[in-house]
Amino acid sequence: MRRLLVTSALPYANGHIHLGHLVEYLQTDIWVRFQKMQGHRCLYFCADDTHGTAITQRAQREGRAETEVIAEMQAAHERDFAGFGIAFDRYGSTHGEATREVCHEIWSGLRKTDLIVEKDVAQLFDPQAGTFLADRFVRGTCPKCRATDQPGDNCSVCGSTYTPADLIDPVSTLSGTRPEVRTASHLFVQIEKERPFLLEWTQSGVMPEESANYLRNFFLQEPLRDWDISRPAPYFGFEIPDSPGNFWYVWYDAPIGYLGTTLEWCREHGEDFDAWWRNDETEVHHFIGKDIQYFHTLFWPVMLKKSGFNLPRFVHIHGFLNVNGEKMSKSKGTFIQASKYLEHLDPAYLRYYYATKLSSRVEDLDLNVEEFIARVNSDLVGKVVNLASRTARFVEATGLSAVYPDDGGLFAHAASQGDALAVCYEAGDYGKAMRLIMELADRANPYVEANAPWELRKDESLAQRLQDVCTVALNLYRQLALYLAPVLPGLAEATGRLLNAPMDSWQAAATPLTGTPVGKFQHLMQRVDPKKVQAMMDESMEEAAAEAQPAPSPIPVDSGSWLVAEPLAGEITIDDFAKVDLRVARVLAADEVPEARKLVRLTLGLGGDTRRQVFAGIKAAYDTQQLVGRLVVVVANLAPRQMKFGLSEGMVIAAGPGGKHIFLLSPDAGAEPGQRIH
Ligand code: 2FM
Ligand code: ZN
Repeated sequence: MRRLLVTSALPYANGHIHLGHLVEYLQTDIWVRFQKMQGHRCLYFCADDTHGTAITQRAQREGRAETEVIAEMQAAHERDFAGFGIAFDRYGSTHGEATREVCHEIWSGLRKTDLIVEKDVAQLFDPQAGTFLADRFVRGTCPKCRATDQPGDNCSVCGSTYTPADLIDPVSTLSGTRPEVRTASHLFVQIEKERPFLLEWTQSGVMPEESANYLRNFFLQEPLRDWDISRPAPYFGFEIPDSPGNFWYVWYDAPIGYLGTTLEWCREHGEDFDAWWRNDETEVHHFIGKDIQYFHTLFWPVMLKKSGFNLPRFVHIHGFLNVNGEKMSKSKGTFIQASKYLEHLDPAYLRYYYATKLSSRVEDLDLNVEEFIARVNSDLVGKVVNLASRTARFVEATGLSAVYPDDGGLFAHAASQGDALAVCYEAGDYGKAMRLIMELADRANPYVEANAPWELRKDESLAQRLQDVCTVALNLYRQLALYLAPVLPGLAEATGRLLNAPMDSWQAAATPLTGTPVGKFQHLMQRVDPKKVQAMMDESMEEAAAEAQPAPSPIPVDSGSWLVAEPLAGEITIDDFAKVDLRVARVLAADEVPEARKLVRLTLGLGGDTRRQVFAGIKAAYDTQQLVGRLVVVVANLAPRQMKFGLSEGMVIAAGPGGKHIFLLSPDAGAEPGQRIH
């Protein structure tokens, strides 16, 4: 008997579970159920990943405490997982005391090494919100292409990457105000020092080959960068005991949630924690997505090793989910939440469909909606459940035959496949297992058709034949239900009730049932109704659209410093103002003036043939190519001025102190060249 401790990645507490997440939880749940059926001691742990800035931001937006937000999300996650039959032995929270305890223990292990160093980090700070800002909480103008409202790490328009401090006019998304640069001391783990260990460990058969190869190349390229694992207060997380005012970064304590949850389970069950995490006989198996393999295959093993815990025996890595060949999309209704799916469809469909798609390779998986419907209907309803639904009723009164009849070797053949199927499950090759099981179903169905029990029942003298044929069909059905039990636990349970026999061991598929009663037949599985699938997608689309309505952003608080720099001018009359003829104009051409340091020559169209040539001092702030076509505001009746490079026939209006910081005015959409500004 093996001792297995299995985990899935901890979902963040700031979002609901969707079909993308479910690839992993279902993949893991199937593996765990399989191991339990093999008679191994196997525990499955997971927890909510609760710390970090995203939770604080959500809590602030909703005017609630972080603890309230995470408690509500935890309940929703547990509901969704239960709805899909994902059976954790315990589902914890990284905000629990047990995780805090293990965080301290691992920290004291790390502190004894020479891996931890302290270094200053300059980061943007929002004085109004009183907090340092993670990259995604800063937006501003791209320093390369000047696209406005870009995130703090890379530009969605030109694709360039930068740090938040490089943004022009950065704005904190928390308060809408301009952040400032502040320096704080952070703690780092120098994992480069563990290179020899990591090289050896990652190449020792503990992850899929393609991931190990990837890491080997990665190691060749450059030194491993120090890992920043602390954040200055305020931060929602655990304070570092020997570094007051600093908190562990969320990715430090997230995997420790695996141990914290184990510790809670051990306390509840009177078991020894070290027997599970400090014992060579325990195999730790992590299931994760390819996006978080660095954390689990570089940082995590170092943390575990330095504190004397078991290293993972295997890190199972999967790819991402696509729907209909594309990334899940809110606007196409393919970004489907677990709870939305459950409102419309049987979780067994998705469990089976994902199983047909999963292999031991790190590959993306495509949920093709048409195929999903066809697969489930033809395989599960048409081939598997059909064996029982066409026969069980005929033996409700008599039960199964006392002796297993001659079936031409069908049962024995399926029994002989048990080991091959087990190898597939063990390796995560569920797709192959499903194909083999359907091949068995394809052998069983012709038996039922050839013996036509619905005909036999018409003739009373054939009662024994009828009972024998149904005994064979139901035993073949039960074998399939047993082999499918890790994937379809609900079907296995219903089968157990129907045939009055336990379904919890793999071995049960080797021996036919005889002479046992048969319960009242109830529907085992309905066909997938395409209308329900469509309704699920339509609702997902509508709900995503309603959600996308921008939330009112806080009104920024402006400092008044510009008024100090340039006080308001003396009063004028409306007639004074009317003398200035401001017009909307379109930039028809923008050319650099090579001899002039600051100037750009603009050709402005006011509609029809009316044009103005204007020299504007905006060279440092704008790329000429980006100006062509846009609308600006021009003083159209300014006396022309002869300059060294030509005649300037007006002036474009802009704000800002000059140099790089010049901001052209443009009218709102709808305005047209030539319109006067009143
Ligand atoms: O990527 C994520 O969703 C993280 N919440 C996963 C954490 S896994 C583990 F380390 F806890
Ligand atoms: Zn850009």
